[in-house]
Amino acid sequence: MKIAIDGPAGAGKSAAAKAAAKALGFIYVDTGALYRGIALYVVRKGKNPSSIEEVVPLLAEIRIEMRHIDGEQHIFLNDEDVSELIRMEHVSVAASGVSAIPAVRDFLFDMQKEIAEKNNVVMDGRDIGTVVLPDAELKIFLTAKPEIRAERRVKQLAEKGVFASYEDVLEEVVQRDYNDSNRDFRPLKLAEDGILLDNSEYSLDETIEKIISLAKERGA
Ligand code: DC
Repeated sequence: MKIAIDGPAGAGKSAAAKAAAKALGFIYVDTGALYRGIALYVVRKGKNPSSIEEVVPLLAEIRIEMRHIDGEQHIFLNDEDVSELIRMEHVSVAASGVSAIPAVRDFLFDMQKEIAEKNNVVMDGRDIGTVVLPDAELKIFLTAKPEIRAERRVKQLAEKGVFASYEDVLEEVVQRDYNDSNRDFRPLKLAEDGILLDNSEYSLDETIEKIISLAKERGA
């Protein structure tokens, strides 16, 4: 069974998808981490993440792998575990840049498809229900108001000991929404048969419950 969870940054996709996957006994796949892995490589090389000319030649040097260690997804970039490094704010912005490049999306497409063919998955991203797994049994578009998403993000960063101002985070959230939803190639959008779930008023637990109950309705 395949469950696709798409939506903008900060809607709580990864936390909700991860917990729902655990409860259902499925594998959780965070596809944003793959784009982040490429972004990290591009940033390290000092190249512009939004430039097709600068990014595409680098793809031949990149090997991204997803390994599950103790049930946790780890991302390896040319054999280096970069699971933590890819969470840096500047990598988030660079990931949004590289993700608009068609060759980058194609580069990661087969990998995502293959994982879903071999396992029961809860996969989160931006184009999972629309492009990667159009035949998913359940497609959820998880979103929340930008102000709420920014608040959650500030809290999340504070828990990691990182201070970020609400205004800066809100600006980044709005900018990333705009980029992800307005790129020409495979933008973030609700699948025709997707379920829109706005969790502005929900707790994380309520969001997880909702996903699990929708999954069970579909035979999980
Ligand atoms: O979910 P995330 O914040 O880790 O994703 C990082 C960036 O990657 C995000 O700005 C959009 C892009 N992305 C994408 O275009 N398609 C996906 N399936 C997942 C992420």
